[in-house]
Amino acid sequence: MDYDTPLFFHVMQYAAAADRDVIDLVSGGPDWEPPTALREGLREYADAEPAEFQYPPSDGLRALREEVAARRGVDVDRVVITNGAGEANYLAMAGALERDAGSEILLTDPVYPYYPGKARMLGYDATLVPVAEDGGLDVAAMREAANEETAAILINSPNNPTGAVYGADTMRAMVDLADDHDALLISDEVYDHYDFSGRFESALSFESDHAVVTNSYSKSMAVTGLRVGYGIFPHHLADAARTRHMLVNVTGARPSQAAVLRALRETGPEYYEASRDLLRERIDAFTDALDVAGAEYVVPEGAFYVFARFEGFPGTLSNVERLVDEAGVACMPGDTFGSYDEWVRFALVSPRAEEAARRLADYDGF
Ligand SMILES: Cc1ncc(COP(=O)(O)O)c(C=O)c1O
Repeated sequence: MDYDTPLFFHVMQYAAAADRDVIDLVSGGPDWEPPTALREGLREYADAEPAEFQYPPSDGLRALREEVAARRGVDVDRVVITNGAGEANYLAMAGALERDAGSEILLTDPVYPYYPGKARMLGYDATLVPVAEDGGLDVAAMREAANEETAAILINSPNNPTGAVYGADTMRAMVDLADDHDALLISDEVYDHYDFSGRFESALSFESDHAVVTNSYSKSMAVTGLRVGYGIFPHHLADAARTRHMLVNVTGARPSQAAVLRALRETGPEYYEASRDLLRERIDAFTDALDVAGAEYVVPEGAFYVFARFEGFPGTLSNVERLVDEAGVACMPGDTFGSYDEWVRFALVSPRAEEAARRLADYDGF
């Protein structure tokens, strides 16, 4: 398998090498503070006994698994702590394929690029199903695409890159679709705390032994570098996920898990509300500026991305490089996300997001 440098590295390097000031809206690492309790947890961990620096149980600290299980209302045996949602998605995709229930995976178009990458690595045939005009899931098209070869259906709400949030009807329909086709629904809910619509529904709300929910603290606690996530598997797939996790990783990082556990216990809803408020303001300012620039965009209902297109200025890599050089704003080219080569994605994870918006509004190259 060849190593393909992810495109976001290329754009970030290009932006860093530019001889002007560039505002980086390329990748999805939050710029805001993690919870105070998380910092305190990490600080105190430095003085822990040597035993606390040794392997934790492979499937995660028991107390963290119990905390997750209690919060999500599931049996603790279903919870596997992973190195981020990225690993949880991989475990779920591998588990779905291992059932010998077909070799196709349904994804959306646009799509978070690591999904098709993992699908290729695992030997899936990936089918990309275009989303609806407003960025929402096209349930009818998903239904039409499903067939007896469909082993997995992978969806993401709130969505990267569109910002769409799938409500209860959509989630129920997707769980039913997976049940009907003996496929595994993998619901990546990594942006669940960034729902501005109030409509977000977890796949866990619907009873099914054909659904896996993946999540992490990377985004909700602004700690993409700590690598703590989880998968909630149906009972019949949980042990295989545990085994694969153990054989690939041995285990996860103990200090990270301990700090996340402390933050979960000691952080109130106001922390998450403050992050949402910050993002709401950024999104409003950014989309106002896009209006001035004459852009078309999907109004984000969740997550922290704005997917946009500028008339006569397709979202190719060379145009993204022009935006770096001429406007001082770095973003992701749209074809990274599937067949959306007219589009670009802005990640609003910079305190200078508003300034970037003004630069775009003033840019006369569109
Ligand atoms: C949709 C989606 N899933 C998963 C991930 C990876 O999350 P983690 O850091 O928990 O592995 C990201 C990161 O950007 C993402 O956008």
